[in-house]
Amino acid sequence: MTSLFARKPIEALQPDEDGAQSLKRVLGAGDLVMLAIGAVIGAGIFGAIGTAAAGQIGPNGEVVRSAAGPALIFSFVLLGGACALAALCYAELAAMIPQAGSAYAYSYATLGELVAWIIGWDLILEYAVGNVAVAISWGDYFNTLLRGIGVGLPPWLTTGYRTALLSSNPDVSGLLQTAPQLAGVPILVNLPAFGIVMFITWLLLRGARESSTANNVMVVIKLLVLGLFIAVGTTAIDPANYTPFAPNGFTGIHQGAAIVFFAYIGFDAIATAAEETKNPQRNLPIGILGGLAVCTVIYVIVGAVLTGMVPYGELAVADPLARALELAGYTGVGWIVALGAAVSMAAVLLVFQYGQPRIFFAMARDGLLPQWAARVDAKTRIPYTTTLVTGILVAAGSLVGDAAETYDLTNIGTLFAFALVCSGVLVLRVTEPDRPRPFRVPLVWVVAPLGVAACLFIMIGLPAQAWERFGIWLAMGAAIYVAYGYRHSRLRVK
Ligand code: ALA
Repeated sequence: MTSLFARKPIEALQPDEDGAQSLKRVLGAGDLVMLAIGAVIGAGIFGAIGTAAAGQIGPNGEVVRSAAGPALIFSFVLLGGACALAALCYAELAAMIPQAGSAYAYSYATLGELVAWIIGWDLILEYAVGNVAVAISWGDYFNTLLRGIGVGLPPWLTTGYRTALLSSNPDVSGLLQTAPQLAGVPILVNLPAFGIVMFITWLLLRGARESSTANNVMVVIKLLVLGLFIAVGTTAIDPANYTPFAPNGFTGIHQGAAIVFFAYIGFDAIATAAEETKNPQRNLPIGILGGLAVCTVIYVIVGAVLTGMVPYGELAVADPLARALELAGYTGVGWIVALGAAVSMAAVLLVFQYGQPRIFFAMARDGLLPQWAARVDAKTRIPYTTTLVTGILVAAGSLVGDAAETYDLTNIGTLFAFALVCSGVLVLRVTEPDRPRPFRVPLVWVVAPLGVAACLFIMIGLPAQAWERFGIWLAMGAAIYVAYGYRHSRLRVK
């Protein structure tokens, strides 16, 4: 029996530059910047930003998260730097080990099976739980759109049970008493969030995937609506709203960063384009750092305008950009921004809902999950079963989940994966120094340790509940590994 830290040989995963299976190197730095904008701008900037600015109060009046206030712009800058470090490390591994499964595959080759399993399990938080958060935010903007045309769904059909349970707002928590009941349990469901996930799943089962043309259209829509928000919002800025600037000092900036980190998730996906990038040693860092810089600048400007338009306390809502415009008297513009937000978030949903089944698939192919999960549809060649299972699980989570809770869980899981990827780069530099690296992290002994430290530091800014839930999640994963993966691993059981 091989050890728990058995590593998958990288040879099998090396890109064969001239072979039939090699991908075409077509992407330049500019394409990577476009990919980055397409993958990352979504619920984070349209939804989570409100909670970061206004803070969060628990159902018993306790402070769950201190408000960042207008100083939120510093949270974005901090995050841009942390993500740059992690993304460079992702790029080195992605270029060396180009395989479906992302960080899961890299860690199988670098840190061994146990760590790979933990990361694979952990990536469910980034992809599937992350999509629950995006779907809930999508639902909130969808409701804004409906209200704008005079249609209102009853609140018990647009509010998940967890949201009512965790809310400090009496109108929302009161739904626990006023909603229709079934066998004594209040029916509190988020139908729009459920519906969009089922729709996206249906599209994916038909073989849809995001093409670069669709991505470019999305990028234009995102930039147009955020540009519109900035242009109109700037005219409604009241400088008085910038005081106090940092109501909770660095604590607010730190805790705000821990939730709006969500706005940056997706950068890891860009690094996986390494095998398709022309001159990766030059273009990858330019593309990654350029993409991050563009997003950071956009986020900082949106944050500055948003917190200038209304007192930051008003932003504790699910659709802060549309709400700020409404409060400033621009209801029509708010509606257009809500439409753009809904379209942007649907695109993010598609990308993540596409990624998750492929990670499950990679894990099942290695024997760590049951073989039914590795089944591929004969005609469409897509992992049909995992696509369907992912869709059902995410839709069920969206039906009853709470946005802030799922943002936190996604963030802690993703930051943990980032930290492990940064460590993996160093491990491989020591254990396999001579292996060809199409892209090498510059100053790796500075960049990778700093990346680990930055991720851990942002994780510390998350509320205690997020850590508890993360611990439970990892314990569940460990139990499943012991009960199943350990016995069925292809690498171990020959
Ligand atoms: N970064 C992506 C978003 O904000 C996940 O929706």
